[in-house]
Amino acid sequence: MMTKPVMDQKPLMLRVTENKREAPDYATLFFDHSLAFRPGQFVMVWIPGLDEKPYTISHHGPHRFGITIEAKGVFSRKAIALTKGDLVGIRGPFGNGFDIQFSQRSAVVAGGCGMAPLATLVEQLPGDTTLIHGARSKDAILFPDRFALAREICTDDGSLGHKGLVTDLLERRITDGGSLDMVYACGPEIMMYKVFQLCETHGIPCQVSLERYMRCGFGVCGACVCGKQVVCKDGPVFGSEALREMKDFNKKALLKSGREVDLSLYFSWRCR
Ligand SMILES: Cc1cc2nc3c(=O)[nH]c(=O)nc-3n(C[C@H](O)[C@H](O)[C@H](O)COP(=O)(O)OP(=O)(O)OC[C@H]3O[C@@H](n4cnc5c(N)ncnc54)[C@H](O)[C@@H]3O)c2cc1C
Ligand code: FES
Repeated sequence: MMTKPVMDQKPLMLRVTENKREAPDYATLFFDHSLAFRPGQFVMVWIPGLDEKPYTISHHGPHRFGITIEAKGVFSRKAIALTKGDLVGIRGPFGNGFDIQFSQRSAVVAGGCGMAPLATLVEQLPGDTTLIHGARSKDAILFPDRFALAREICTDDGSLGHKGLVTDLLERRITDGGSLDMVYACGPEIMMYKVFQLCETHGIPCQVSLERYMRCGFGVCGACVCGKQVVCKDGPVFGSEALREMKDFNKKALLKSGREVDLSLYFSWRCR
């Protein structure tokens, strides 16, 4: 489904119609509004008087959409505390979204909140798709009953499924279940880098969804550049070819100030 050109998309003020607690640190905010959208695209969410940040669309229907938020810093904690009737600003959707290959044998690999952008993709892929989901613990598994597809789970603490990494399960799937034609992934960047490396080793194309600091959301301000790519406009989803050329993948990112730092510092930085 094609989205409208960016200049046609006017900012909206929408009321939260439901706040659904998904897990101790996760909630989904629903809005009764029809939005042309492709899995993997995101909207900029403005909380008046606070800030504006990017969130992927995790639920999508003809007259409704939802965003799923993990409580991290000031903004996301305020967002998951919003209640029915609260007004927020929405711009978008922005970004390219996943290039969906319907006829192929695919695997979808999610780490933590990375399940949010992948959920609507999973709902569109055929039933023989392999879904691998990793989280800190059993309590942090998002949407446990949502998909018709069986899910292979791993947790850091071993409280559910395999104790270990999603890449352990992906490697086992490739070795025991035959090759794949496409792997889609979203999660911590180190996880996506390891998925990419594994796919390169086995000659499998992949698409991953990257996060960088975003301000405008549609390619004007330069806040989100990663090497030669503008993540909000050229991405946030990048395929193997682009990832091979992306020298800052799993290495560097720009802070809000524009200063380039190591990725570990970027993800531990608190944006006040
Ligand atoms: C394309 C895209 C889609 C996203 N989708 C989701 C989603 O579906 N669910 C979800 O929970 N989170 C999503 N995020 C992350 C989200 O935008 C916030 O960064 C996150 O909620 C933390 O914000 P905070 O202010 O509460 O935390 P803070 O403590 O202020 O920041 C925590 C970390 O978030 C990152 N960050 C902060 N501000 C921004 C910003 N303006 N743009 C990008 N990254 C920032 C930085 O790495 C920072 O270290 C997405 C980010 C991007 C770029
Ligand atoms: S956020 Fe402005 S160019 Fe990407």
